[in-house]
Amino acid sequence: MKSIELDYSNAKNFISDEDIKNLLPLLKNAHDNLHTGNGLGSDYLGWMDYPINYDKDEFEIIKKSAKKIQNDSDVLIVIGIGGSYLGTRAAIDMLGHNFRNNIDKKERRTPEIYYAGNNISSSYILDLFDVIGDRDYSINIISKSGTTTEPAIAFRIFKDHLEKKYGKEEASKRIYATTDAKKGALKQLSDKKGYEQFVIRDDIGGRYSVITPVGLLPIAVAGFNIDMIMEGNKDAREEYMNEDVYKNDAYMYALCRMILEQKGKDIELLVNYEPQLQTFSEWWKQLFAESHGKNQKGIYPSSLNYSTDLHSVGQYIQDGKRIMFETVLNVKKPRKDLKIILDEENLDKLNYMANKSVDYVNHKALEGAMLAHTDGQVPNLMINIERLDEYNFGKLIYFFEKACAINGYMMDINPFDQPGVEDYKTNMFALLGKPGYEDKSDELKERIKGI
Ligand code: PA5
Repeated sequence: MKSIELDYSNAKNFISDEDIKNLLPLLKNAHDNLHTGNGLGSDYLGWMDYPINYDKDEFEIIKKSAKKIQNDSDVLIVIGIGGSYLGTRAAIDMLGHNFRNNIDKKERRTPEIYYAGNNISSSYILDLFDVIGDRDYSINIISKSGTTTEPAIAFRIFKDHLEKKYGKEEASKRIYATTDAKKGALKQLSDKKGYEQFVIRDDIGGRYSVITPVGLLPIAVAGFNIDMIMEGNKDAREEYMNEDVYKNDAYMYALCRMILEQKGKDIELLVNYEPQLQTFSEWWKQLFAESHGKNQKGIYPSSLNYSTDLHSVGQYIQDGKRIMFETVLNVKKPRKDLKIILDEENLDKLNYMANKSVDYVNHKALEGAMLAHTDGQVPNLMINIERLDEYNFGKLIYFFEKACAINGYMMDINPFDQPGVEDYKTNMFALLGKPGYEDKSDELKERIKGI
């Protein structure tokens, strides 16, 4: 059995063999373009072969640095946003204890990990200082450009705090910069201050970068086996290279998405039944939203956490507009399991479940919701994951990256750029009075007068 497997049998009312056959020429073309580097955005294909050509020396330095941070820090602050943040958090949440930061250090053995620079909230930053208190900490600043507003603000503040706490020399030994190899503000500062540096390659865009130093350093600090992550990523590279869609689940997933969109399903709901997967969904949303949401195209990627959300938006899924399909992340074996106990009074009427495991009940909820929703014309794609471990994390990331890239080529868009995210930044800079934005500033100030 494959450790990650797509099952589209519950969407068969919407996806026929004929539908699949019709898309095969488009798939062939997309596959050829991706693998020969002749498609759009082909400067950003570095993630495809990264599992076999990554820098082994740098990998060893990542492990060494992770050990140092584990030894000299109670807390690691990971500063970054978007592609320089979401994948790391997805990994640490997926692989770790549900309450990892609250577990006693002796048991956890690795630093607490907190994230900064992914919002512009002053309360968030000050609250984070309260959490750190007077404990020892280090910073991993992750930014290709070094000038992205959110992480740049956070880094300025935490760097200043670290320098005041330890002195400039010691602070420099506690700052790890993951950034461009040659250029940019952070690269310049890191050279000047002597920070340990890791490279964000030019040929790997932010949302495709988690399994590079961007994610690997903090994931290793959190105590996870990054060799196994690379192993899963490497095996996925092999498995999802196959041109035959019936032997390549990443390609079949891409095809299913396209067929469902053709049938009016404009929203995809990535559904999980494990709270540990909530941030994985956030990573997935960025991957598909930034890659496909252009030229007025693309399925809107959304996510739900079941069974929690069955009690809030379940009604809409069952009976609202028929514009969505579900992709369920089905974890076959839970990390831990426990049994429901027999209660003599049985006032809650749960005794019929006594001695069944909680995970068994979770899976019955999954089956029940899947049947109800497919009856309600919400097609269901299932991604079966053997268990949540490092190997499968590496595999799952590659599965979605490859599916996203091939799907993007089939849509005739560039899945590796994100021109649309600049517009709000231009406005924000103009409103903040950034030099160079003066003309725009006057125009915008006039417009917001009416607000
Ligand atoms: O996917 C992307 O390219 C973005 O999400 C970037 O990763 C994000 O904006 C952060 O950019 P930087 O690493 O330059 O700070």
